[in-house]
Amino acid sequence: MIFKKIIGIDLGTDTTQIYLKDTGVVVNEPSIVAFNNRTNRVVAVGGEAKKMLSRTPAHVTALRPLSHGVIADFDMAKEMLERFLKREQMPWSWLTEVVVSVPTNLTEVERKSVEDLLKEVGAHRVYLLEQPLAAAFGSHLEINEPTAFLIVDIGAGATDMAIISMNGIVVSRRIKIAGDHLNNEIIKAVREEMKLNIGEPTAEEIKIGVGSAVPTGERLEIIIRGRDVSSGLPREVVIKDTQVRFWLIRSLKMIIETLKDLIESAPAELVGDIYKNGMYFCGGGSLLRGLDQLVQKEIGVPVRIVEEPLNCVARGTGLVCERIDSYGHVLNNFSSLNLGK
Ligand SMILES: Nc1ncnc2c1ncn2[C@@H]1O[C@H](COP(=O)(O)OP(=O)(O)OP(=O)(O)O)[C@@H](O)[C@H]1O
Ligand SMILES: [Mg+2]
Repeated sequence: MIFKKIIGIDLGTDTTQIYLKDTGVVVNEPSIVAFNNRTNRVVAVGGEAKKMLSRTPAHVTALRPLSHGVIADFDMAKEMLERFLKREQMPWSWLTEVVVSVPTNLTEVERKSVEDLLKEVGAHRVYLLEQPLAAAFGSHLEINEPTAFLIVDIGAGATDMAIISMNGIVVSRRIKIAGDHLNNEIIKAVREEMKLNIGEPTAEEIKIGVGSAVPTGERLEIIIRGRDVSSGLPREVVIKDTQVRFWLIRSLKMIIETLKDLIESAPAELVGDIYKNGMYFCGGGSLLRGLDQLVQKEIGVPVRIVEEPLNCVARGTGLVCERIDSYGHVLNNFSSLNLGK
């Protein structure tokens, strides 16, 4: 008997998750590679490499091989995946089929690059599954019904949004404003307003610690440390939720404008369905305090954050893995599906 393994992969800008059929999520690690730039050898990947980000000695560079959900450094992405897959709990053979989630609106070249990557690490057959569809599967939405669902996935590198009906994407938008962009806005504002240089991990700490989209009723503060812009010496400052809200609002409004544009481009019948069904938010960015309230106020349609919003795309690829045969007809309808030869 030929032993076929099927795995699902969410290759995210911030996090890579791997789902093994009949087992569940076996890898959930930061998408980061640290390598020695004297020898060009990879020294760590995932969580180990994340610890090195912004704190690396001169000869070690830590980088993210994905940028805005797209492979930016093919060789590093390959090394990273190989190391994740070779771990003990991930048996890997040439007869492995992979369902990999990809952002919407990729170019042919970008899609091919994902397919090539998986093939180079040993996949026998590669199925590309658009992220909003994966998120909808992972959230158990009845997307095979003749009604429409609107999914918004706010990740690290991009916000992907799509209106889905009868197992297919009807209209979609993708913008490069998501978690990383919010962190950069915080870095810029802290430098300009507080004359302090901070790194990305501190910006993320501020965003997750006290960030919000609307006043939440509680006053939040965080103490952070950085380097004074003029003296170059370490300094500590207190940052309040009101400041962070002000720094983030412009980017959040841009996401909302794109969402309005998406809804305007959809057929009227589907808009009625969305009004009835509400909008589903997922991805780490959807966890920003009060984001649901802000979007609901601006668009006038209820917002639901899906269960476990950080894992729903991986769960969706997993669900397709579990029933790859019965999903065959569904897979063939995916606009970005590529069957490996
Ligand atoms: N509680 C929170 N509040 C705000 N942002 C959060 C929170 N938790 C995580 N994030 C942000 O979510 C982002 C990571 O989300 P996610 O894991 O969905 O991204 P990804 O799938 O790796 O990226 P992409 O889909 O863009 O390729 C990071 O930018 C992180 O800062
Ligand atoms: Mg994602």
